Amino acid sequence: MPPLPRVLCSSDVAPAQAATATTPAPGLGLLGCGTVGSGVARRLLASHPGLIRGIAVRDPSKPRDVDWDDFSDDAFDVVDDPSVRVVVECIGGLGLARELILRAIARGKDVVTANKDLIATEGPWLAAFAARTGASLRYEAAVGGAIPIVRALGGALAGEDVLEIGGVLNGTTNFILDAMEMGADYGEALEEAQRLGFAESDPRSDVDGHDAAHKLAILAGLAFRRPSVSRFVGRRGIAGISAADVQTGAQRGLRLKLLAVARRAGDEVEAGVTPAYVPEDHPFARARGAENVVRVLGRGCGPLVFSGAGAGGDATASSVVADVLAALESRERVPAHAGEDLVVRSLRAPVLVRYADGRVTMGDAVALDALVTETVKASVDPSVASIIPVWRDAA
Ligand code: HSE
Repeated sequence: MPPLPRVLCSSDVAPAQAATATTPAPGLGLLGCGTVGSGVARRLLASHPGLIRGIAVRDPSKPRDVDWDDFSDDAFDVVDDPSVRVVVECIGGLGLARELILRAIARGKDVVTANKDLIATEGPWLAAFAARTGASLRYEAAVGGAIPIVRALGGALAGEDVLEIGGVLNGTTNFILDAMEMGADYGEALEEAQRLGFAESDPRSDVDGHDAAHKLAILAGLAFRRPSVSRFVGRRGIAGISAADVQTGAQRGLRLKLLAVARRAGDEVEAGVTPAYVPEDHPFARARGAENVVRVLGRGCGPLVFSGAGAGGDATASSVVADVLAALESRERVPAHAGEDLVVRSLRAPVLVRYADGRVTMGDAVALDALVTETVKASVDPSVASIIPVWRDAA
């Protein structure tokens, strides 16, 4: 039998062979070397020696667990380095990080970022800008830590008619609620989440639901293929949740989770972030510690559940590195959004009302926006201890 033809794949062509004397191998500039950035640096220094051309940090003299002896304090210099073709932004926030990303895109460089705040507020126009300059913008690490949900929506699920997407999108709050279920104190659990590198530099972004709202807006834009930004996503965080709320659920076979869900409602989308009781056997209840659970409900594919490490340096670095490899090979671009902006209205759910005297009643479905108002009213009504939605899957 003749030998089978050998299929040529990209790994057969070493970068050094593919490059000519006038086209040096593309290099990478890393901006930020904190929890995520240092994880990215360690991995790439080990797997791709010579790829990283510059690492910019705020304070080069600070000791770091990264084998690099030439940290720069000028991130613009790293972006402008002609040998840098891929810029990896691990600074976070909307100030300097935004300026650097804009500069990289303007120069036609590929950008990889874990910056959910930026993608959730300006992602649609940044993607359009990148399309004009020939740059690419990849942000797998912005949602769900190590869970490959961005590329799943842009690739394997690109033809799916998504009806609903969401679940547990914030690791820090899940870690806190999980710890409270086991009897820990809210403040101690938050401190532990910070120590483990799960929380944002300002943990109010986690506990007040901003982080989950950002991630939900990004997912909704990809799932419903329309420009989407987080300022329209109603939100309520976990700061007011007490041990009694967690225990009240546990006694009824319900687990308290910070849910972030968007679902189709006619031509609009119903979306919101709220603490909610979830039946113990529901996929959303599966998230333990800092894990995330994302469920995609599609007309064709039915329910698909993605779960795993949702926060932490190594988990997030894994997604960043995957995007870097995709950028180097110019494959798997995140699709640009098209059409009218997504119209978002408030998520609705029935509520469980717990009274100060221990009584518990079920209330009708209310909109999350109204619920926030009701909760504020309840806080001045001494007879009501808490009002928390109970998650019901759409029939
Ligand atoms: N602070 C975020 C979380 C980190 O707890 O989920 C991952 O985005």
